[in-house]
Amino acid sequence: MKFPSEPFKIKVVEPIRRTTREERDRLLREAGYNLFHVPAESVYVDLLTDSGTSAMSDNQWAGLMLGDESYAGSKNYYHLEETVRSIFGYKHVIPTHQGRMAENLLFSTVVKPGMCIPNNIHFDTTRANVEHQGAQALDVVIKEAYDPHCELPFKGNMDLVRLKDTINRVGRHRIPLVMLTITNNSGGGQPVSMDNIRQTRELLSRYHIPLFFDACRFAENCFFIKEREPDYASKSILDIARELFSYGDGCTMSAKKDGLVNIGGFLSLNDDQWAQDTTNMLIMVEGFPTYGGLAGRDLEAMARGLREVLDEDYLSFRVGQVRYLGELLDQADVPILKPIGGHAVYLNAKEFLPHISQDQCPAQSLAVALYREYGIRGVEIGTVMFGKKDAATGRTIHPELEMVRLAIPRRVYTNMQITYVADSIIELYSRRERIHGLALTYEAPVLRHFTARFEQLEERPLVQHAAS
Ligand code: F0G
Repeated sequence: MKFPSEPFKIKVVEPIRRTTREERDRLLREAGYNLFHVPAESVYVDLLTDSGTSAMSDNQWAGLMLGDESYAGSKNYYHLEETVRSIFGYKHVIPTHQGRMAENLLFSTVVKPGMCIPNNIHFDTTRANVEHQGAQALDVVIKEAYDPHCELPFKGNMDLVRLKDTINRVGRHRIPLVMLTITNNSGGGQPVSMDNIRQTRELLSRYHIPLFFDACRFAENCFFIKEREPDYASKSILDIARELFSYGDGCTMSAKKDGLVNIGGFLSLNDDQWAQDTTNMLIMVEGFPTYGGLAGRDLEAMARGLREVLDEDYLSFRVGQVRYLGELLDQADVPILKPIGGHAVYLNAKEFLPHISQDQCPAQSLAVALYREYGIRGVEIGTVMFGKKDAATGRTIHPELEMVRLAIPRRVYTNMQITYVADSIIELYSRRERIHGLALTYEAPVLRHFTARFEQLEERPLVQHAAS
């Protein structure tokens, strides 16, 4: 198998503590089998998220020393503004401490009750911010996105027929903007094609509806465009990004992903009135417009990270490392979501653990087993995260997919550690029938996955699981 080797060498190391199976078993019991409650120090390879977990470069660390902590007019803000304008091309640059604040500012300004925001698939925080305004967050991705076996190069694409129908049904005055999430995190880190973006733009122009990007993983999306859309094979990532953003009117950005920083984000847009309104809100809830909830040094690290992320050697290593993990698993017949996305590999828990019914949380059970046996932490994306209670019957309505997401932090783990992850999962797969389900014992009314508690169903014989 071919994969690119690391395009960097290591200058600073952070030791990782090895733990024993007994210790991890105890920690799991104390955590109520919720991996969000396991101390990070007791995790060997932490694949909980790729957000805010990047390793910064020497160039970024050097930038921290040049932080200008003036309340107003920090030079680092001007550097960030110039960088964002040159890549994204929008007029106004409003820094925020992370992505969801950019979403909050935008939606609380332009979304009114009864409105509707279509997206390919909303990430949890955009959905929550839209719904918080009394509006509907609608997913309009192509239907193949929901089939874990369907291999399409651009499985994050918007379904243009459904988008047009939605606009005609809802009425354009009730759609203040349409969003495209690049890459589509909730659908497996799948990219959106330039062709689909252009067509979305054309459709929306006919109705005078603005297009915004949820741009967290824009560089990874641009890399896929270069790799998979023939017209772009010889273009630079910067040129691809500039063309992509030229089809939009603005974006929200969590720089904790493709900004290669541990904290930071921004809202960038062309509309003067919306910029003025969101800036007024920013001053109230985040800070003055030239720092937006961040220190000057954070703005500098973000400006530098946004340039570094466009480097093709970096991107082919980055996407290649994720693909390397996915291909090792696929070759061993471990069921994963296909094709392999840009930032994560998703284990298909329904097929990994067919003997555990959805009532017994197969993806959570798999994530727990992976931590207990090997010290690897992934995140459940299944019934715990997305299951909903039927108000009439009190029964849980299960989501279609049961996944464990293994999100790879940027520039953090070596290929050898990724090989360890693959070997561990392949070994676990060979012993999969020994994994037992979990029973939910506590759940909060909203975002239950963060605080849920479980009980291990070890005492039940496996045959009962199969029948349930
Ligand atoms: N949009 C997308 C597509 C995301 O993946 C995230 C965060 C956000 C918005 C919000 O950004 O965390 O900076 O406020 N995703 C993280 C994850 C949390 O693990 O996928 P934020």
